[in-house]
Amino acid sequence: MTNATAVKVPTLPDAQTVTSVQHWTDRLFSFRVTRPASLRFRSGEFVMIGLMGDPDPATGRQKPLLRAYSIASPSWDDELEFYSIKVQDGPLTSKLQHIEPGDEIILRPKPVGTLVHDALLPGKRLWFFATGTGFAPFASLLRDPQTYEDYDQVIVTHTCRDVAELNYGRTLIENLHEDEIMQELLGAENLAKLTYYPTTTREESPKKGRITTLLENGTVFRDLGLDGISPETDRAMVCGSLGLNTDLKAILEGYGLKEGANSDPQHYVVEKAFVG
Ligand code: A2P
Repeated sequence: MTNATAVKVPTLPDAQTVTSVQHWTDRLFSFRVTRPASLRFRSGEFVMIGLMGDPDPATGRQKPLLRAYSIASPSWDDELEFYSIKVQDGPLTSKLQHIEPGDEIILRPKPVGTLVHDALLPGKRLWFFATGTGFAPFASLLRDPQTYEDYDQVIVTHTCRDVAELNYGRTLIENLHEDEIMQELLGAENLAKLTYYPTTTREESPKKGRITTLLENGTVFRDLGLDGISPETDRAMVCGSLGLNTDLKAILEGYGLKEGANSDPQHYVVEKAFVG
């Protein structure tokens, strides 16, 4: 027997193999894939991933069906993790939700994005504002030591429709505190800087309401013992629906914060979560 028989030859361009899949609700799932040895990225960036589409009825040719996905794993991880919505009639996620370990997906190894530390000026307090699958880039950044080394306090807010939709984020944050490898990597002192602020909008939970409303009526600040948000101390990253991004931008600008970019670091950055 030669070695060649044991090697699985990729059948797709830029193919990576699925290593695990977890279904969180009937609308949400996460999965891990192999990481190309050459792929370098900054925690918080996104890549294009997908599957081959159905054959064109006329030509029989298949085209790749690709969408932007934030990498949910940190830059030091051996594998890549993604967190996705399942849209039953969505061109990609209607198929992607059925992947299983051993299947292949397409991954274009060109990471980009604005939810990166380099796009923010130094500050004391870092806010991550997420709705739904917008938690994904923060799942990466929350496992990156730089997040804690650069700030005195890190606050992650996550707003979902119901309690079950918070579970991916909640489990990840619990793991940071309980997993020995995470403890060692991030440090107990650093993890003490982290505050998790989950809210739901359509089901009762300890904190009900959109994060935008809870900021505007001062609930968040009362709960966390803060005076407010200021450009001198606060930095923010926002990732959610178009509506969330627009509304939160207005709130942050109202506090005097300016939007930054890779080429022009400022007080806050925004990216739209993948939806469809
Ligand atoms: P709501 O239930 O009031 O629409 P989705 O699952 O549709 O992506 O939404 C995720 C969460 O984001 C929901 O809790 C939703 O609240 C909330 N949300 C949607 N739009 C906004 C917005 N403009 N500002 C704040 N939160 C929002």
